[in-house]
Amino acid sequence: MASLVQPTIAEGSLSSAAQPVLRAGPMILRPWTEGDIPAVSAAYSDPEIRRWHARSMSCEEASTWISGAHEAWTLETGVSWAVDVDGALAARMTLRVEKTDGIATAAYWVRPDVRGRGVAARALDSAARWAFSVGMHRVELEHSTRNPGSCRVAIRAGFAAEGTRRQSVLHADGWHDMHTHAKIAE
Ligand SMILES: CC(C)(COP(=O)(O)OP(=O)(O)OC[C@H]1O[C@@H](n2cnc3c(N)ncnc32)[C@H](O)[C@@H]1OP(=O)(O)O)[C@@H](O)C(=O)NCCC(=O)NCCS
Repeated sequence: MASLVQPTIAEGSLSSAAQPVLRAGPMILRPWTEGDIPAVSAAYSDPEIRRWHARSMSCEEASTWISGAHEAWTLETGVSWAVDVDGALAARMTLRVEKTDGIATAAYWVRPDVRGRGVAARALDSAARWAFSVGMHRVELEHSTRNPGSCRVAIRAGFAAEGTRRQSVLHADGWHDMHTHAKIAE
């Protein structure tokens, strides 16, 4: 059965170029490299990152995760940036990409010692600007209702709150209600 809908993002339009490097003030959003493996693994030793991303990460797993990020760009299913501040890895910003509807879904964390400096909000804003620049229609994210910090990041980056999906994500301590936020292409 043929779809009557033209994909919002044309096949090949993302991966025909190299993954972009984005600059936002003192921050650089760049592709991950093997050199990030120890820092990624260390980031997941933080209890908050473990809690909200519901996983740990050995160096071997970090290596696979980074390969997966490059593969996602090639397959046009996502784009993941390492966020450097002052030349060191400070954060992760990922967009999962759905090309037909032109929807990108954001996920992020910031190293504990770099929090409270606007890194997450600025990186999210930067990623969303890129998404709209390549023709995405909507950038969205969701966070547990028990994670007010992530809610503030979304609001600061201009992502309107849309509602609550009840008991929609299973965390290590059980089911969480999730808030949805989104920004629509202007
Ligand atoms: C949540 C997290 C990403 C915030 O990163 P950050 O770089 O410190 O956030 P920012 O400095 O950009 O803060 C943006 C806003 O959120 C607020 N904020 C950040 N963390 C907060 C917290 N824990 N509680 C309340 N508000 C918080 C800031 O005060 C700021 O508010 P403002 O707009 O009123 O000035 C970071 O704490 C983190 O990595 N947590 C663990 C992983 C996680 O929760 N990921 C998101 C899963 S959905």
